[in-house]
Amino acid sequence: MKDIREIGEPVFSSGLENIYFSETKLCYIDGENGRLYYLGIPIEELADNSTFEESSYLLLYQKLPNKEELENFDRKLRENREISEILLKEEELIPKNAHPMDVIRTIVSFNGMLDEKATSRNEEELLEKANKLIAMLPTIVAYFHRIRNNLNTVKPDRELNHAGNFLYMLRGEKPSDIEIEIFDKTLILYLEHGMNASTFSAIVTASTQSDIYSSITSAIGTLKGPLHGGANEEAMKMLFEIDEKYNGDVEKYLKEKLARKERIMGFGHRVYKAYDPRARILKNLALKLADYTNNRKWIDMQIQLEEKAGPILGEKQIYPNVDYYAASIYYMLKIPFDLYTPIFAIARIVGWISHILEYWKSSGRLIRPREKYIGELNKPYIKINERR
Ligand code: ACO
Repeated sequence: MKDIREIGEPVFSSGLENIYFSETKLCYIDGENGRLYYLGIPIEELADNSTFEESSYLLLYQKLPNKEELENFDRKLRENREISEILLKEEELIPKNAHPMDVIRTIVSFNGMLDEKATSRNEEELLEKANKLIAMLPTIVAYFHRIRNNLNTVKPDRELNHAGNFLYMLRGEKPSDIEIEIFDKTLILYLEHGMNASTFSAIVTASTQSDIYSSITSAIGTLKGPLHGGANEEAMKMLFEIDEKYNGDVEKYLKEKLARKERIMGFGHRVYKAYDPRARILKNLALKLADYTNNRKWIDMQIQLEEKAGPILGEKQIYPNVDYYAASIYYMLKIPFDLYTPIFAIARIVGWISHILEYWKSSGRLIRPREKYIGELNKPYIKINERR
């Protein structure tokens, strides 16, 4: 592969589409054929057989753990869930109407200030910090949710796995096994996805040799946008809009929306030109959960929308993405809309950190693209009282 510096002239790529700037072993997206691999393992295999804990280890350590390694990693995750008093106080001070994405961005950043060794580049210490950050993120989300609703916070339960514990801390009651299983699988599917916008933000910050907390803070801010992680929340709001304003008339909604040149949330992807494999898995999980909850309303609406949108958007190779069916799954799990994107972050933090570690171990080169200047040159400077 030719390095761009050997080519000479800068290459123009709107939105940095189709540009390689680094090498990775973490994730491969075959966008033409709709295939996804973590460390070379097909996503379907991981969704069927793995767990959030095991797949997280796979990405962070770039290998599947043996039994003992997994037990140690999992035990530390369970031990690291609680947050310090000072962070809890900070959460209590946050306005109750704040978006939870703003809350996690603020608390992760605040937490970075408390770590005296925040700038350490020692690998072992970084993996310790990684474990703590991954473990505490669900607690930050669940605590804020309970505080804003004037409910007592629920302490983490070490008997429950990562997925089950989050649902428990959120609701204050133990979720069922099937709810834990389905939620866990959604976390696996959200864990990692190559050089997406939020991971790129994390890497840009890491490339300046800033610290891991600053990198994660950058990533959270980027994930929030509705064109990226914010789409799962928007997808569920869209279903409600169809139900309430359009009386469930999917076709009318679609026609009007496309006529206004607006986007259908949860559809389309920069890399996939075929069906997103995560959406296929999530669709089946949503169907399973719909049967379990005895409520097919949302999944039926989604399938109908997908069928109606197919002939129109399919022409542009636009299909449902990961956020589309995740939305109804989280709704059926009784999770409030504005926690869908924080849940994405709860999973994707693993991908962010894995990429930061990999980047620092490889070139670690400062990221600094260029902009093509299209303005004028050598314009005269006009003094302020001579300007019109
Ligand atoms: N609905 C309708 N039309 C769409 C959609 C959509 N969801 N997505 C893309 N298009 C159309 C655009 O209008 C454009 O049409 P045009 O060429 O006639 O103007 C064409 O497809 C190409 O769109 P771009 O914006 O250039 O494609 P890009 O690769 O930049 O966008 C993106 C990818 C941002 C994900 C886009 O598909 C989108 O906005 N989707 C909706 C939001 C969403 O679901 N985001 C989550 C993405 S996955 C993730 O981040 C986890």
